[in-house]
Amino acid sequence: MRERARVFGEVAGDYADVRAGYADELVTAVFDYLGRVSERVVEPGAGTGKATEAFAARGVPVTCVEPDPAMARVLRGRLPGVEVAVCRFEDWVPPAGGVPLLICAQAWHWLDESTRLARDMRLLSTFSLHRLLAEDRRARLYAGIAEVVDARGGVVGVRLHTALGLGRRRP
Ligand SMILES: C[S@@+](CC[C@H](N)C(=O)[O-])C[C@H]1O[C@@H](n2cnc3c(N)ncnc32)[C@H](O)[C@@H]1O
Repeated sequence: MRERARVFGEVAGDYADVRAGYADELVTAVFDYLGRVSERVVEPGAGTGKATEAFAARGVPVTCVEPDPAMARVLRGRLPGVEVAVCRFEDWVPPAGGVPLLICAQAWHWLDESTRLARDMRLLSTFSLHRLLAEDRRARLYAGIAEVVDARGGVVGVRLHTALGLGRRRP
């Protein structure tokens, strides 16, 4: 059984090309909540940097913690100015004094339940399970999707909603 958390790297290039990014308003909402522009952002599960780029665009230094080497390679290629630690968040050693701001974009459910804040991982479910299907079933699924897309002239609109959850440690 392939490890589920590693299925992203198998398609890192496609992930970077196809997956939707995040609106700039999201960054504004996070910094408004924090009450200032953070001096650094740490992002576990950064993937190919879809959310990272929105924060990096504000000139804020970002440290990404991404365990999949293929995802990390694409991330470094897309955002050379960003620091990338290629390891699980659980194994990452934070700087002394902690970090000012932690963001996590559709990756919270990948982190170890016993060490991340208690949160039901079933609340989030990204669309990676199809990558674990047996090859023939996956090929049939993709052919079916291609058929539907072709029948609609090759383009299918997707309505995306981004839910933002914010929290801070009690003083
Ligand atoms: C659904 S992707 C989200 C990527 C990116 N944040 C985005 O929004 O496009 C989840 C990412 O979490 C990473 N991941 C899985 N387990 C992890 C762990 N224990 N620590 C840090 N990242 C992890 C995966 O390698 C993958 O890149």
